[in-house]
Amino acid sequence: MKWYKIPGVPYTNEPFITKVKIGGKSICLVGFEGQIYALLAICPHAGADLSEGLCVKGKIVCPYHRYTYNLETGKGGEGQNDFVTTYLVDIRDDGIYVGIKSFWDRLSGK
Ligand code: FES
Repeated sequence: MKWYKIPGVPYTNEPFITKVKIGGKSICLVGFEGQIYALLAICPHAGADLSEGLCVKGKIVCPYHRYTYNLETGKGGEGQNDFVTTYLVDIRDDGIYVGIKSFWDRLSGK
């Protein structure tokens, strides 16, 4: 797994939603109740930008059709039968890092 430092997004306890590009991916970064979550920014339903959505009760709400995804697991809401990819987040002294597994990492189960 490769860890990427998120440029220009300092750690904060305040809620926020923003989009960053790292490792060739668009990542939706969400600050919620003092935790930082990272999800693929592309909605699995029809491709909307999840970073333009809302955060409600630990879920990101897609701006297009209001599907919801759990911030921690990426699991879709009841009846959706889908999920969005989530990424590990590490808060370090020098900033926020997001871990992205390579294709080979995923194949080898790392
Ligand atoms: S595009 Fe996200 S719910 Fe339809």
